[in-house]
Amino acid sequence: MTTFLPQEFLREIRDGEKPSATDIKIFIDGIGSGDTSPAQIGAFAMAVYKTGLGKDEIVALTKAMRDSGDVMQWDLPGPVLDKHSTGGVGDNVSLLLGPVVAACGGYVPMISGQGLGHTGGTLDKFSAIPGYDVNADNDLFRKTVKDIGCAIIGQTAALAPADKVLYATRSATATVDSVPLITASILAKKLSEGLDGLVLDIKCGNGAMMTDLGQAKTLARSLINVACGAGVKTSGLITDMNQPLASAAGNALEVRNVIEHFRGKRDARLHEVSCALSAEMLVLGGLADNIEEARKKVDTVFTSGKAAEVFASMVAALGGPNDLMESPDKYFPAAPFVTEIKATKSGVVSAIDSRAIGMAVIVLGGGRKRPDDKIDTRVGFDQIAPIGTALEKNDVLARIHASTNSHAKEAGEMLRGAYTLSGRAPENPLILKHMGMGD
Ligand code: URA
Repeated sequence: MTTFLPQEFLREIRDGEKPSATDIKIFIDGIGSGDTSPAQIGAFAMAVYKTGLGKDEIVALTKAMRDSGDVMQWDLPGPVLDKHSTGGVGDNVSLLLGPVVAACGGYVPMISGQGLGHTGGTLDKFSAIPGYDVNADNDLFRKTVKDIGCAIIGQTAALAPADKVLYATRSATATVDSVPLITASILAKKLSEGLDGLVLDIKCGNGAMMTDLGQAKTLARSLINVACGAGVKTSGLITDMNQPLASAAGNALEVRNVIEHFRGKRDARLHEVSCALSAEMLVLGGLADNIEEARKKVDTVFTSGKAAEVFASMVAALGGPNDLMESPDKYFPAAPFVTEIKATKSGVVSAIDSRAIGMAVIVLGGGRKRPDDKIDTRVGFDQIAPIGTALEKNDVLARIHASTNSHAKEAGEMLRGAYTLSGRAPENPLILKHMGMGD
């Protein structure tokens, strides 16, 4: 066996040569043990950023990062499945999809993240529910998955710790937006959940990390090929993020939106994306033979109330109230200032700058300006008028929920500026592409 020389390993990556899987593992293991220095981690990130990595090397990197911490093992009577979204605005799909898939016989151990940039985070949405423990320990997490079929909590220090260090290094070295590094970072965490199948929701548009279809396809291809290469059945949908997906954006408001959805008052676009991704998961997990059969199962658990029951049971099992679904007003205090933002002219909503709406949620205090900021879960927007809505002057564009009058004013201006009204709306397809292995 030859001695591992980190400087030689870094030279190989810098020069576009193929380092071995063994060397990649030694380098990543060294992040935890201290054998790999911070300078070498920074050089690694920059070398990958500039030169890229081949698929086999990204698979090796992903596995090494996954194995830097605990990898869950399950022994359950159904498939273990999850979804990852690259992030958007008003994207509360996970809150619907986890319970839906569990109600159809799957098991969903979902580790979720905080909001990133202008996008919202599932973890922050659940933290709006009083008592809900997003930091539940491993025993409670596993018990909830086993008994109820679904548990959604936050990242623990035990899962993929090498990613935490590499991610912080990337933030400090201008190397965040690298497809190989994004791929390994996302998948190391997801694959440590011990999955049989993974579905990706690659958001594309003005509120997404990937603003055009070409970029979204490149990221989807990389994620799918690497996840499949690491042994997990994976497929994905590229979905539109040129407007908030739900009619609400902001943490408690999005949970309320989900409760209404389970009760039958549904935002059409949110419903379609949630059903399409859930159905994809059922097929991947062998719970349905094809998408048509899967869609029927998904419809059934929505209309029977079974998915809503799973949501309610999961909330209660993780420390939230037993009657959240029946009495949401009891648990979500209203923000002090609730204001309607009105159209200043008539017209059809033809474009929405979703990124600006995500930024306005941050201005309201519903997202973070600094990593350790505490967020105000009460604030945000609801009644957001979607593209295609015909408005008269003074009709409502959206309602603002703010903690102060000055926040309400500033976010109101941002919201108004995010809307374009004109004679008619363009076509606005929702599911832009299905992506599988080899696409
Ligand atoms: N999300 C992650 O977890 N990692 C990245 O690199 C980008 C988004």
